Amino acid sequence: MKIGIIGSGNMGRSLGILWAEQGHEVFFGARTAEKGQAVAEFAGRDTQGGTNDQAAAFGEVLLYSARGVNPAEVLTSIDVLAGKIVIDPNNSTIPEGFAYEPIVKSLAETLAEQVPKAIVVKAFNTMAQEVFELAPEPLKKHRVSAFVASDDATARQTVMNLAEEIGFVPIDCGMLRNARLIEGLGDFIRFMIIGQQQGGYATISVNVLPESESESKRLGGRQPSALK
Ligand SMILES: NC(=O)c1ccc[n+]([C@@H]2O[C@H](COP(=O)([O-])OP(=O)(O)OC[C@H]3O[C@@H](n4cnc5c(N)ncnc54)[C@H](OP(=O)(O)O)[C@@H]3O)[C@@H](O)[C@H]2O)c1
Repeated sequence: MKIGIIGSGNMGRSLGILWAEQGHEVFFGARTAEKGQAVAEFAGRDTQGGTNDQAAAFGEVLLYSARGVNPAEVLTSIDVLAGKIVIDPNNSTIPEGFAYEPIVKSLAETLAEQVPKAIVVKAFNTMAQEVFELAPEPLKKHRVSAFVASDDATARQTVMNLAEEIGFVPIDCGMLRNARLIEGLGDFIRFMIIGQQQGGYATISVNVLPESESESKRLGGRQPSALK
């Protein structure tokens, strides 16, 4: 798969290298061609580097890691994104004292409005760069969730596959509107990592447990609820 990285910072560089290790063709883009080329040189593995425009033209799948910047300001033309998968790994700026406002519209939904011809997929915002350093081994054994949301089921599956290849357990989170919930998780894990000093190896995952083995449910089991 051809993957273009728009904004080759910590996220772009890490994910780009991991996908290149899995045999994907990766192009690292940056605001200057020199920066993109330098990241590709660091990454090796036949990756390429240059401008964000070049990365956008190259990829079938794009990682958009320029936080809070409208793609119309980053690219010469957003038409280049038409029909392509654009992965949004972004989280909002941490407010003073982690006093977040409720999320009424996610960054991913905003991005989808900004690039209406692209297929936006929310993913990779709930784990810190440190976790990528463990991928794909020994990350696999820790079963860390990668929450993935998009209105396009095929695109969602493509990104879930990209997550699984590098050692995460992909979690299908349905439509893009659910990015509001996923971004809330991103805010929470950063509160844990930074606010509660748990560090960048703290993760947040869904674990589906096996059913209780006892035949008679000693707590009465789940009864119909009277709540509306
Ligand atoms: N780092 C993490 O552990 C982590 C984990 C999960 C999610 N995230 C989220 O992922 C996003 C990226 O984080 P990061 O750690 O990769 O940040 P970063 O290392 O600072 O990289 C940010 C990238 O954005 C680009 N950029 C910034 N302003 C731009 C502009 N006006 N126009 C074009 N490009 C611009 C930079 O481009 P140049 O290369 O051209 O300078 C840089 O490559 C953020 O939303 C963050 O919340 C980060």
